Amino acid sequence: MGRRLPQPRDIHALALRRPGPVTVSTGLSAPAALRNRQPILEVLERHGPTRGTLLEIASGTGQHAVWFGLHLPNLSVQPSDPDPRHRSSIDAWRQESGCENVRAPLAIDVLSADWERNPALPRPIAAVVCINMIHIAPWEAALGLLRGAGALLPPTAPLILYGPYRRDGQHTAASNAQFDRQLRAHDPRFGVRNLERVAEAAASEGFSLEEVVSMPANNLSLILRKSHSLTTADPHSRA
Ligand SMILES: C[S@@+](CC[C@H](N)C(=O)[O-])C[C@H]1O[C@@H](n2cnc3c(N)ncnc32)[C@H](O)[C@@H]1O
Repeated sequence: MGRRLPQPRDIHALALRRPGPVTVSTGLSAPAALRNRQPILEVLERHGPTRGTLLEIASGTGQHAVWFGLHLPNLSVQPSDPDPRHRSSIDAWRQESGCENVRAPLAIDVLSADWERNPALPRPIAAVVCINMIHIAPWEAALGLLRGAGALLPPTAPLILYGPYRRDGQHTAASNAQFDRQLRAHDPRFGVRNLERVAEAAASEGFSLEEVVSMPANNLSLILRKSHSLTTADPHSRA
């Protein structure tokens, strides 16, 4: 009998191998997630919490959640997505990876009022990560994400956003400009966001832009840090 050619499922198994158990997933697979999960993990290792719950908004296939769970064993990862097909995929990756620190996905839509009050959300949340969502959704989704994360996170906790951004209104690469045109042709409410506008909206929700990290494929990670809360002992608190 001839040797069986590797199937996509085997490739997923290999991709998941380090350092957890060898697993195969029947979940969806996004090539971009396979490429960017390691660089994003490194951002989380540098800027994220060392323990507590990491809430992922817009988890998509679930590949990031499982990768983060495997490599950050001291964190509990809470994935979420409003799309039921994505939640099934997240659950498949989660169960088939054997990652016990990845929780069952929640149906969170950041366009919903008070999404952060979802009673199924574990508390406290130590950090929020959102990968490739705010340009593939209306601007109101970015505002809803910032508002809810601002309400949810304690002082000094990070909100980490990953994706393509314009800087001072300009695209940082021709490929991003082309992607932006495609997004807007698909839905005029979508589009590559202006970093300064995101930082300004985040500031209104109590975040400061701590660092902008250059990522592969002309993407950026924005490290938004929740400001220290003001106390009555703070002489500027009533200014
Ligand atoms: C391009 S996919 C990115 C998925 C995943 N983060 C990744 O990078 O592979 C965009 C995701 O955003 C989710 N999404 C769209 N609108 C949303 C909203 N209002 N609230 C939360 N998630 C949303 C979609 O369901 C989808 O899973």
